[in-house]
Amino acid sequence: MSKVLVAYFSKTGEQYGVGTITKGNTAIAAEIIAEKTGGDLFEIKVVNDNYPDTYNPLVQYAKVEKQKNARPEIVGEVSNIGEYDTIFLGYPNWWADMPMPVYTFLDKYDLSGKTVHNFCTHEGSGGVHREDFTMYGHIAQNDREQAKEKISEWLKSLGF
Ligand SMILES: Cc1cc2nc3c(=O)[nH]c(=O)nc-3n(C[C@H](O)[C@H](O)[C@H](O)COP(=O)(O)O)c2cc1C
Repeated sequence: MSKVLVAYFSKTGEQYGVGTITKGNTAIAAEIIAEKTGGDLFEIKVVNDNYPDTYNPLVQYAKVEKQKNARPEIVGEVSNIGEYDTIFLGYPNWWADMPMPVYTFLDKYDLSGKTVHNFCTHEGSGGVHREDFTMYGHIAQNDREQAKEKISEWLKSLGF
């Protein structure tokens, strides 16, 4: 049996097309994946969380962070990273890219030799790094049955 880690970044507050949310779209997808694979969840959160909770200011903030190619410090450690042989890595599409804290995560851990499946939520552009799986954020948020079905199909194709 392979040991699975589901690491993800996701943002609550006001998001595109879904109003103000208390659980992020990607977080919902990540939880479904963890439930169906028996994986452990790790949320990629920044230490100094200055992300605005309103949409347009967030979009501007993220633009600057991307322009700076920032590596915001993230909270906590996956101390047992060596035990995982399969990693699901999830994030929203931010400016046709991954949020910068996901780069911090990737800089921090050596995932070579592990099987990595990346997934992304978005609102129309689709994925950003040849993701294995993409989904509209509002579907994860508002139609969990459909989200579960699509994710199950994907996981089945991977052998879960
Ligand atoms: C800063 C920012 C930039 C975004 N850029 C894009 C984009 O380029 N293309 C797209 O389809 N959606 C974009 N979106 C929409 C998000 O990808 C989408 O709402 C996603 O599901 C949010 O996931 P989360 O709730 O897990 O953070 C953007 C959202 C934000 C906040």
